[in-house]
Amino acid sequence: MQVIKYAFQQHGDERGMLVALEEFKDIPFEIKRVYFMYETKSDIHRGFHAHKNLEQILICIHGSCKVRLDNGLEKKVVSLEKPYEGLYISNDMWREMYDFSEDAVLLVLASDFYHEEDYIRDYDEFIEFSRKKSR
Ligand code: TYD
Repeated sequence: MQVIKYAFQQHGDERGMLVALEEFKDIPFEIKRVYFMYETKSDIHRGFHAHKNLEQILICIHGSCKVRLDNGLEKKVVSLEKPYEGLYISNDMWREMYDFSEDAVLLVLASDFYHEEDYIRDYDEFIEFSRKKSR
């Protein structure tokens, strides 16, 4: 299972740091939606879903958190600790976010608007979906 983690270009000078992200350049899709999670309680696990047709990039722009990815065959844990790191997540990945630091802000760039119909929230359904895709 391949985990795609970007290290975005950092523009730093004596004033501080800046990261700029452009669609189709730094981000491999059209950015149709941006959302972020903050004040997430430390013992909370979020996510627990996959998507039928959605690409996302997760950036922990402040603090840190962990993401467990599961492609139906393998699981991997990725730590997001730097504001210039972006984790690419394709549609066919079951994801779980946890271990949020108190100050964590997890920014998500998404390739489409919010459509509840696009969510796969049942794990057995996800396994079925990923088996059908790999056939
Ligand atoms: P939810 O799907 O529970 O988040 P997570 O995947 O982290 O568990 O989303 C929480 C609430 O926010 C839910 O009522 C749906 C709403 N929401 C939107 O309205 N738009 C969005 O883009 C997202 C991601 C969630």
